[in-house]
Amino acid sequence: MMTKLSVNVNKIATLRNSRGGDVPNLVKVASDIESFGAEGITIHPRPDERHIRYQDAYDLKETVTTEYNIEGNPIPKFMEMVLKIKPTQVTLVPDSVDTLTSNAGWDTITNQAYLKEVVSEFKNAGIRTSIFIDTDLKLIEAVAKTGADRIELYTEEFATQFDLGNKNGVKPYTEAAILAYDLGLGINAGHDLSLDNIKFFKENIPNLAEVSIGHALISESLYLGLENVVNMYLHRLK
Ligand code: PXP
Repeated sequence: MMTKLSVNVNKIATLRNSRGGDVPNLVKVASDIESFGAEGITIHPRPDERHIRYQDAYDLKETVTTEYNIEGNPIPKFMEMVLKIKPTQVTLVPDSVDTLTSNAGWDTITNQAYLKEVVSEFKNAGIRTSIFIDTDLKLIEAVAKTGADRIELYTEEFATQFDLGNKNGVKPYTEAAILAYDLGLGINAGHDLSLDNIKFFKENIPNLAEVSIGHALISESLYLGLENVVNMYLHRLK
């Protein structure tokens, strides 16, 4: 299966906001990333708008021509925005207001009824819905009951184990992907994926539909250039 590369542009907004002006211009960088070959753009606006602002989400809607993925905790303000924008995909993430970056997947058992309601609102609006999740098989079974279209596997633990040289760290992800596929769910993945670990991850995850990558990709671009790095990911995902 072709795995699509969706580039998370949060870090571009962080850089812009650090100076208060419009350099780098987020919309231009996103559209250049698409012209370099990326198949999607991801943003993860936080309630405090410390990197992506809600206005950015609207501006990008006008220009993104590939898959547009908006991630976040479905608080009322976020839901209202996503329902207005109607991106290709919304990824539900249970992050709290003050968290530095996403640090856990959903407990889809405890939050089953709530997620079902949220998913159905997005699906009625024609928006593909994905749920950020750890590899626990019971939690993945519960995703299927929410009506979501996809899971996004939270890959931080894989990346940590890979760095330590533990290739077996991918096994729970392989099992989770097999179960998700059997349940009729599509499979996305993200968090701490990088040029070092992406090829191995891809080779071990059957039916991987999409990866969303931000922090490492932008960091690697400081040395290798954005166009080059996007193409290196595309090559490794073939
Ligand atoms: N997926 C989710 C839900 C995230 O919150 C993030 C980070 O914003 C990513 C993927 C991308 O992670 P990274 O920046 O480590 O590539």
